[in-house]
This record gives sequence, structure tokens and C-alpha cells, in this order.
Amino acid sequence: MRRDLLSVFFSIVFLALVHTAFSVDQQFEACEPKNCGNGLNISYPFWIQNNHPDYCGYPGFRVFCKNSKPILRVSNSDYILQDIFYRNQSFLVIDTGAIDNSCPAPLHNFTITGAPFEFGQNIVHLLILYNCTASYSDEYPVLCNTDPSLHSFAMLLPWGEFDYSMYSSKCSVVVDAPVELDGKLSSEAIAQRNYALFLRNGFVLKWTIDESTDCLRSGGRCGFDKGEFVCFCSDHPHSKHCNNGKSTKFNFFTSFAF
Ligand SMILES: *[C@@H]1O[C@H](CO)[C@@H](O)[C@H](O)[C@H]1NC(C)=O
Ligand SMILES: *[C@@H]1O[C@H](CO)[C@@H](O)[C@H](O)[C@H]1NC(C)=O
Ligand SMILES: *[C@@H]1O[C@H](CO)[C@@H](O)[C@H](O)[C@H]1NC(C)=O
Ligand SMILES: *[C@@H]1O[C@H](CO)[C@@H](O)[C@H](O)[C@H]1NC(C)=O
Repeated sequence: MRRDLLSVFFSIVFLALVHTAFSVDQQFEACEPKNCGNGLNISYPFWIQNNHPDYCGYPGFRVFCKNSKPILRVSNSDYILQDIFYRNQSFLVIDTGAIDNSCPAPLHNFTITGAPFEFGQNIVHLLILYNCTASYSDEYPVLCNTDPSLHSFAMLLPWGEFDYSMYSSKCSVVVDAPVELDGKLSSEAIAQRNYALFLRNGFVLKWTIDESTDCLRSGGRCGFDKGEFVCFCSDHPHSKHCNNGKSTKFNFFTSFAF
């Protein structure tokens, strides 16, 4: 009798060890980096709608795929997520309207109010002024969505709070787009007086949440579940990184359920 109990006990221990050794945590698997087809791997804090479960990233970092490209919706407009720099927690976005478009000049302002982002460095305003009764120096011509009898143009202005009133009183529409003065295409844009190249270059945004380094270093995949940061590891979710305590979501007994 005693022997039977003992062997049952060892079988359970054995099965538990086998389970721990060979089964990879489901959430860890679900949050593996994925892409939209263009090769850019998307992972926390970003996540791909209909491809990753929502716990793989933050709500404001949801990306969807369109024409094999990851798209982030910010400021009520679609931006291509062109690159992600996990090292310095920033990413490069390009207004979808600036690409493959006979009229790359945007008709919408960009704002990060309410989004968990900050602007990167070297950002300047590209002001697009439509249908103005006056012209200004240092203009970049804008030829679409315009009235040819009036003046329409773009101009660069230093970053910062800005008073548009002197322009808006003389123009029918004023649009403010962030661009980078030191982007790859900037010197061409300036030399050719081509504002569209600034837009095609995109601009860098930073994310302001910072919890991922320890988790990634320990081999985990970060996530955000039920309002809390989680580090999904191959064994089970942890609260900070794969070598520290279990996440409050982890239950000893359910981990043995097959
Ligand atoms: C994306 O991730 C996969 C799997 O981890 C890897 O094989 C591939 O090299 C990555 N691609 C890029 C462009 O980093
Ligand atoms: C992060 O690094 C990338 C690549 O080196 C760079 O292009 C980007 O501007 C950097 N981000 C910030 C916020 O400085
Ligand atoms: C500028 O005026 C033209 C002609 O009235 C109009 O078609 C165009 O939509 C206007 N542009 C903007 C940005 O409102
Ligand atoms: C963009 O923002 C400026 C400043 O707030 C405002 O004057 C302008 O009307 C806005 N343009 C559009 C198209 O909403």
C-alpha cells in the first residue's frame, strides 16, 4: 500500500517535471514577434490586431496590417510603422498619405495628445498653407488641393508652441505636420524644394513606458494583461522578469493542468 502511494507520488512528480520541461507557456508562444509580411517584427509594446492577443502589448500600440505593412492609427490618421528601435524605445512612422499619392500634402494636423508617445529629437513643423492671399519667403510649392489663383505652399518652422493666427487669417486651411530636419531625405528635400520628401522620410516618436528591459534580457516576452505589466516566459508568466517571482496571475495548480 505504502509502495503504491509512493509510486503514485513519484509519477506525479515525474509528469510535472516532464510538463515543465516540454511544454512552453501558451501566452509566451502567443506573444512571439510577428509581422505583416514586410519583415518588420512587431512585439511589445506593439501588437498586431487579429494576430496577437491583446495582452501582448499596450492598448494604444495596436497595429493592423494593410498591404503587408504595419499601420498605427494616431491622431485619427494612419501611419506606417516603418521601424521600431527597441534599444532606445522609439519608432519611425510615415503618414500613409505621403506614400504613393499624387497629393502627398496632408489635410489633417498631427497631435499626440492622449497617446502614450513623445516626439523624438530634431523635429520641426512642416506647415502647409492652402489657398492664401499672401505669400511668404522660403516656400516649398504645393500644387494639389489648391486654387491656382491663390498661393499654396509649405514652409519649415522651428519646433515649439506656435501661433498660427498670422497664417490662418490669410489662408483657407493651415496644416501642421511634424518632420525631421536630419532625416535621410532632408538634404534632397531642401535642395529640390520638395516638401513631399520630408513627409516620406517620416518622424521618430518615443514611447514613455519603461518596464521591458529586464524581461527581455531574461528571455521573456513582455505583455500587458488586466491592467498590469507581465513578463511571459517559457515556463509561466512572471511579474517582472523570468528569474523573479511568479505573476499574481500564475497559479501553482493550474500550471499542472494538461
Ligand atoms: C524576425 O523574427 C524572426 C523570428 O524570431 C527572425 O528569424 C527574423 O530574422 C526577424 N526579422 C528581422 C527583420 O529582424
Ligand atoms: C533611436 O535609434 C535610432 C537608430 O539608431 C535613431 O534613428 C532614432 O532617432 C533614435 N531615437 C531617438 C528618440 O533618439
Ligand atoms: C483651395 O481652393 C480650391 C478651389 O476653391 C479647392 O478646390 C481646394 O479644396 C481648396 N483647398 C483646401 C485645402 O481647402
Ligand atoms: C491645425 O492646427 C492649427 C493650430 O491649432 C489650427 O489653426 C488649424 O485650423 C488646424 N488645421 C486643421 C486642418 O484642422
